Parts: sequence; C-alpha cells; structure tokens
Amino acid sequence: MSRRVLVTGAGSGLGRAMADRFTAAGDRVLYTDLIPPDAPNSLALNVRDDDAWAAARAWCEERWGGLDILVNNAGVAAAGRIEAVPMEDWHWIIETNLLSTVRGCRTFVPLLKAQRSGHVVNVASLAGLLTPPAMGSYNVSKAGVVALSDTLRSELAPFGVRTTLVCPGFVRTNLATSVRSPDPALAELTTKLVTRARLSAEEVAAKVVDAVDHGRYLVLTERVGRLAWLAKRYAPALVHSRTVAAAERLHRRIEAQ
Ligand SMILES: NC(=O)c1ccc[n+]([C@@H]2O[C@H](COP(=O)([O-])OP(=O)(O)OC[C@H]3O[C@@H](n4cnc5c(N)ncnc54)[C@H](O)[C@@H]3O)[C@@H](O)[C@H]2O)c1
Repeated sequence: MSRRVLVTGAGSGLGRAMADRFTAAGDRVLYTDLIPPDAPNSLALNVRDDDAWAAARAWCEERWGGLDILVNNAGVAAAGRIEAVPMEDWHWIIETNLLSTVRGCRTFVPLLKAQRSGHVVNVASLAGLLTPPAMGSYNVSKAGVVALSDTLRSELAPFGVRTTLVCPGFVRTNLATSVRSPDPALAELTTKLVTRARLSAEEVAAKVVDAVDHGRYLVLTERVGRLAWLAKRYAPALVHSRTVAAAERLHRRIEAQ
C-alpha cells in the first residue's frame, strides 16, 4: 500500500536519496527543505521554525488525511576543540540537529498516536554513538537524537508507532558545505572524510527504507561502524586508548596548521 512520507532536508544528500527511494517504492512523498526541492510534492520547511512545522502538518492533513512516516533528516555539521567552538555555534547545531528533531516529533506524534499507526525515522550519526574527539558539539547534538529515539521507541510502541534510528558513518553528500569549525585543519579533515566517503547516499537510503519495511530499530550503515559500536560496548578500555591516540594525532594536525 502507498504510504504517506515526509522527509526533511530532502533537497540534497541522504534526504533526497531516501525521499527518492520511498517514491520508487510507490509511496507518496512530501519533499521538504529550506528551499522547496524539485519534486511533485514539495514544501519549504525550515526545521528550526515552529510555524513551518505547523504548516507541514496542515499540508499532510489537508492533502493526505494524515502521515505514515516522518523522516527527521535535515542537519548540519561542525568540528572543533571544546575551548575553540563559540557558544553561538553550540546553539546553532543543537537547535538545528537536536531541537528540530524534537520539533518534528512534537508536531507529528499526536497525529500518529491518534491514528494508532506510523513510523518516526530519526537520522543521528555514528558520531552520536562513538563520540570521537574534537567534535563535541556535533557529537552532543547527535547523541541527543539517539537518546530521544531510544525514548520514543518504547514510549510510542503501545500506540502502534514505530521508531528507527539511523547512525551512518561518513556518507558522500553535500554535508561539508554546512560545516562550521574554528580549527581550519578540522574543517579540512571533515570535508575530506565526507567528500571521499566510500558509502553513497543511495546505499544508505536503501538500508533505511529496508529497516522501515521490516520494523528494525537501529541502522548502522557499514561493517566498520558496527564493529566500533560493539567494541565500545564490550571493550570500552581498548576503544578509549585508540580514541586517545586519535586525539593525539588530531592535536598534532591542529598545531601544524
Ligand atoms: N554525510 C555524512 O557523512 C553523514 C554522516 C552521519 C550523519 N549524517 C546526517 O545525515 C543528515 C543529512 O545530511 P547529508 O549528509 O545528506 O547532508 P546534505 O548537506 O547533503 O543535506 C542536508 C540537507 O539538510 C538541509 N537543511 C539544513 N538546515 C536545514 C534547516 N534548518 N531546515 C531544513 N533543512 C535544512 C540542507 O538544506 C540540505 O538539503 C544530517 O542530519 C547529517 O548530520 C550525515
């Protein structure tokens, strides 16, 4: 049956690929972004704007009579040492990545609960699980999305509403264009890791849609990420010593900049 899907940040990268994948599966998809994407159903939705969320809900109710799948995907990137990242950038990333996911859930969960069906898909990051050094603000924003999703997974289950948490490693998208960093060496490294990533947005989108189809909760997109996540849980001291070594390499890179 054709599902009704809303994707945020669907103008680029992973959001576009997920929206296209749902469309290819025969679903009806509302593509949303800061500028309405080029798609049959599209809407301007700045995820930081409460009124824009209310308008998106009105659109879904008026045109579709509800919504089946909400994909909170829109996001931005940041890197930098704790003492270097200004508070303004902390507010910017927490507001965009975390509080806007909260907004999306607050807007649509009442509707999904009333329907007694639906699915919330939140795009966090492997960074939210592994918390690598010199990425504090991004890690915290995504760890918040992990905590929110873990919470909703149980909170919404009694109402027949499912949750999927997506934690990709690096994916080839335009994410680097949004990166804010007071440390040029870290901005450069982040850009390299994203633009040269092995995984394409289409590969990740296929995994996400498959997880939704089968009601799976956690999407880890690659083997290295799955191993790192298991290692952090079962061999935390080992992972910590490796992470300290990575922090030392980063420190040398920043000193040399
Ligand atoms: N690319 C990666 O390596 C990677 C890894 C892990 C997680 N992610 C997450 O995947 C999600 C999608 O990012 P992407 O990699 O496709 O990057 P992208 O830059 O290609 O796409 C992000 C989209 O979000 C939109 N956006 C930004 N701020 C917005 C706002 N306030 N309101 C509405 N839309 C807004 C942008 O316009 C853009 O179209 C993000 O949440 C990102 O943190 C990406």
